[in-house]
Amino acid sequence: TAPAAVIVGIDGPSGTGKSSTSKAVAAKLGLRYLDTGAQYRAITWWMLSNGIDVDDATAVAEAAGKPEIVSGTDPSAPTIVVDGADAAGPIRTQEVTSAVSAVSAVPEIRTRLTELQRAIAAEAPHGIVVEGRDIGTTVLPDADVKIFLTASPEARAARRSGELKGKEATDLAATQAALVKRDAADSGRKTSPLAKADDAVEVDTTELTLDQVIECVVTLVEEKRSAA
Ligand code: DC
Repeated sequence: TAPAAVIVGIDGPSGTGKSSTSKAVAAKLGLRYLDTGAQYRAITWWMLSNGIDVDDATAVAEAAGKPEIVSGTDPSAPTIVVDGADAAGPIRTQEVTSAVSAVSAVPEIRTRLTELQRAIAAEAPHGIVVEGRDIGTTVLPDADVKIFLTASPEARAARRSGELKGKEATDLAATQAALVKRDAADSGRKTSPLAKADDAVEVDTTELTLDQVIECVVTLVEEKRSAA
């Protein structure tokens, strides 16, 4: 008989290698992949594009149900489409990055996207790797494997500015300051903040290569599968 679908939640702050790790683990294990941060960015991009003041929580809440958001979950080519438009490029701009914490703190936004994320996970035939901030605590509390990735602020800023290189002007100190500020907002918000679930395995990636982190997570999933 085919093994049951396996649900993997990977949480942590930005710059810990969450996306690269999650995609690679999903590809290796034949699972789907969902980037929930991309969905928060997509809804933020829609708010900005439609002239909604992202600091007006009432206006953001009222519009929360309006955009249609479709996530493609192939780990080798994930996609994000908002009202029929490819949003992969625009969601990575500085404008969206600066606004996303405010939008993602609004409870109506979180309810909407949490429902969407649960539906996508439930439909994945062999299982899925879902990355975000509140997957283990709120979105998928019954996930089979929960991982919480961490890294020093210096390591996270260095990785993030490496990713941005060539795309937008950036310097390390400014990148680190922006990242620490966004993490503080994400950790400090009232509704499902960035947090490690009690039963999550914490992996400090500061001294690890990406391949080592991937290997570590793959091993944890395989152990879980063979124990099941
Ligand atoms: O992973 P990312 O940097 O692309 O996420 C963008 C923002 O979305 C992040 O600052 C916090 C928010 N987010 C969230 O609140 N909950 C999630 N599950 C994923 C992301």
